[in-house]
Amino acid sequence: MRYNLAFIGFGSVGRALARLLLDRSHELQSERDITWRLTGVATRRLGWRVATEGFDVEALLESDRAALAAPAETDIASWLTATKAGVLFEMSSLNAHTGQPAIAHIEAALEHGAHAVTANKGPIVHGYRHLRDLAAARGKGFRFESAVMDGAPIFSLFRECLPLAHVTGFEGILNSTTNFLLEAMESGSGLEDAVRKAQAMGLAETDPAADVDGFDAAVKVAAIVSVIMDVPIGLQDVARRGIREIDATEVRAARAAGTPYKLMCRAVRAGDGVVATVAPERVAADSPFALVGGTSSVVHFHTDILPGLTITEHTPTPTTTAYGILADFIGLVSGSGRGI
Ligand SMILES: NC(=O)c1ccc[n+]([C@@H]2O[C@H](COP(=O)([O-])OP(=O)(O)OC[C@H]3O[C@@H](n4cnc5c(N)ncnc54)[C@H](OP(=O)(O)O)[C@@H]3O)[C@@H](O)[C@H]2O)c1
Repeated sequence: MRYNLAFIGFGSVGRALARLLLDRSHELQSERDITWRLTGVATRRLGWRVATEGFDVEALLESDRAALAAPAETDIASWLTATKAGVLFEMSSLNAHTGQPAIAHIEAALEHGAHAVTANKGPIVHGYRHLRDLAAARGKGFRFESAVMDGAPIFSLFRECLPLAHVTGFEGILNSTTNFLLEAMESGSGLEDAVRKAQAMGLAETDPAADVDGFDAAVKVAAIVSVIMDVPIGLQDVARRGIREIDATEVRAARAAGTPYKLMCRAVRAGDGVVATVAPERVAADSPFALVGGTSSVVHFHTDILPGLTITEHTPTPTTTAYGILADFIGLVSGSGRGI
């Protein structure tokens, strides 16, 4: 079956997804009977671009001019209609405080009659139940595997492989930039110097507060709790402390003592609710968390069936994130799984 695909966002992840779709085109067709063409690309700079017969994706990857040469619509509804999109991939920048405009993009796609897949955490934290219910009402799918831990299977793991297993809590390292910052501090840098190094490597944003003050980690905790533990919490419900409060001397002393600092995320069920925290902690040298550094991340789930289950994602790239989106797409159009 052929699908018209529409991308909102054509940055690191959107481009990696375009490359991955090209790379796996043959297997998609031969093993899954899925063919595709990219009929819509939208970004802030490009506007709502349409190619009804499909963009030349190679040309698009080489230069934005290919998109700029295509006609543009003025709003998302007319863009979705013109692209005849069967699947929207929402890959715009995170707005951790409201989830917009990504929530509106996904709503528009579902109303239009398209499936929606996102890598954006904002819609999960601020709109998960609403978007899940809207998708169900429209008979369409809404998936977001890459929103937490890139392409590592977290949401699909519980949806597909562990039905009726109840998560009682989890802990992990969900923000990898703070791994890098803490490691740089262990090697002699101060926090500001470490931030500058992370920015130079493209790991930290211009405004590092999202990582340093634990906002990014808290958003991920809220997303996992809301979906996998089915308790709708927001950013304000996660007690949050970042790494700004510990100085480099303490960080070095902790490493020398064999109990390094990590920005730990924790959630535990308490009655009908969940107690969720993000805070720097010294972890035991033999814990799986002590071994997770660089851009890697880890989560350890407690369930009523499997007492402990740990997933570690080693050195992800935008292609890893794109793979989570591709897997969501394949799962949706192959009809696997229902629910989350
Ligand atoms: N990078 C990763 O590996 C990774 C991992 C997990 C999740 N994510 C999530 O995936 C999403 C994309 O990340 P990225 O690394 O690809 O970001 P990026 O390189 O900064 O690209 C963001 C893209 O979104 C577009 N955009 C931003 N706001 C928009 C709006 N209001 N309307 C339409 N387009 C808009 C930008 O357009 P302009 O350039 O024209 O402004 C750009 O094309 C984010 O939500 C991020 O949190 C990324």
